[in-house]
Order: sequence, then C-alpha cells, then structure tokens
Amino acid sequence: MGKDVIIACDFAGKDEALAFLDLFKEEKPYVKIGMELFYGAGPEIVREIKKRGHKIFLDLKLHDIPNTVKKAMSVLSHLDVDMCNLHAGGTIAMMEAAIEGLTRPDGTRPLLIAVTQLTSTSQERMENDLLIKEPLDKVVMHYAHNAKVAGLDGVVCSPLEAAKVHEVCGDNFVTVTPGVRFADGDIGDQVRVTTPERAKEIGSDYIVVGRPITAAADPVAAYRRCVSEFVD
Ligand code: C5P
Repeated sequence: MGKDVIIACDFAGKDEALAFLDLFKEEKPYVKIGMELFYGAGPEIVREIKKRGHKIFLDLKLHDIPNTVKKAMSVLSHLDVDMCNLHAGGTIAMMEAAIEGLTRPDGTRPLLIAVTQLTSTSQERMENDLLIKEPLDKVVMHYAHNAKVAGLDGVVCSPLEAAKVHEVCGDNFVTVTPGVRFADGDIGDQVRVTTPERAKEIGSDYIVVGRPITAAADPVAAYRRCVSEFVD
C-alpha cells in the first residue's frame, strides 16, 4: 500500500477550496472533501477537483439502513471518488450492502473505509449514552474487525491505534489517520496528536492533515514537509 498525505480541505465554499488548490503548481495532492464543503458546494465540487487531477477522499460517513446506503454508495461511485467512508456502527449487513452499491459494473470501486468509534466519543459517553460497557479500545478493534469481515479496505483511526489495527486486521488493511501535527506546530483542538514522521513509524498508510497545511503561511511548503517526513 503506497503511503500518501491527504489534505483535509475544510473550506466553507467552492471558491476558497479552489483558490487553495491553485497554490499547488507542481504537485496534485490527495484531497479530503468533508460534509461542510460537500453540502455547501454540492457534488459539482467533487467533479471540479477531480477534473483538476486530484485524488479524492469523500468523507461523508454514511450510516443508514443497508438499502439506502447501497443506493447512496452507487451514486458516489459514479462521482468517481477514490475513497469514501461509513460508520461501522451500521452493522456488517450495512457495510456489505455499501460494497455492493459501490462496485461499478466493471468490478472496480473506490476504497471503502470505516469510522469505528469517533474520537470525540469517550469511554464515559459510550457507556452512558450508547450503553456499550466494553473498553473503548476493544470496541474500536471489534468494529475494525467487522469492517474487514464485511470486505472493507480499512478504517479511519488515531495514528496511535494504527499498529494495533494492523495486528488485528492484517498489514494490507488500510489505516487512515487524522490528528497529525508538526513537532513545532500548534495542536489546536486535537487531543492525541502525532507527527508525520511518528505516524510513518507506527505504520499509518495515509495521514489526513488539515490546518497544519491549510492555515500555514506557506501551504505548499507545509505540504512538502509532510510528504518528506511521512512518505519519502
Ligand atoms: O485541521 P486538522 O488537521 O485537525 O483536520 C483533521 C481532519 O480530519 C478534519 O477534517 C477532521 O474533521 C478529520 N477527522 C479528525 N478526527 C477524526 C476523524 C476525522 O480530525 N477522528
């Protein structure tokens, strides 16, 4: 699995997103489009960024009954994204339906990865609100295993969990990890962070980096620094 840096394009609208991508003259970074940009700018933003030659991770975290997710995934596969995701909490049946919907007539499909428990969910909230009494790390690994059983390609997880996920689900099971900061950078609202270099050592396959690149004085230089620490 080739390692790559994915830039989280967390912009409110099309113009800001495209102006940001215009800064990149020599490289075509892998781009994550999340709910804010997708709901604000519509599917056209995906086509536009794809047309410019970028790979796209569409981060919409689907979670619904299997038939609805299957149909929605079919639409996303026609948008020609490279990676998309769903909540493993939707059950193995929902994840299997998602794969079915995502697979194109020629047998190809975007990578499909699962969110296990969101990093905003603490042990306490999981026990009290969701009535799940097991330890959080055990739940995360169980959901990752369910994703593998359903035929998914990997999970979104903390870089600190990437090694364990590979242990449980195999080296080819993809780990996509946000929560990345430069050693000398601002942490912002992230809690458990790792440098690109450390994420590489632990075994992340893709790092998702937002503000350390999008809010940098020189975003292209910050992107290149991520690539040189994580990929090269
Ligand atoms: O700006 P920053 O590098 O913190 O952006 C990280 C990106 O990854 C954001 O788009 C955020 O929503 C996403 N993300 C995350 N933690 C998760 C899942 C997704 O930070 N557990």
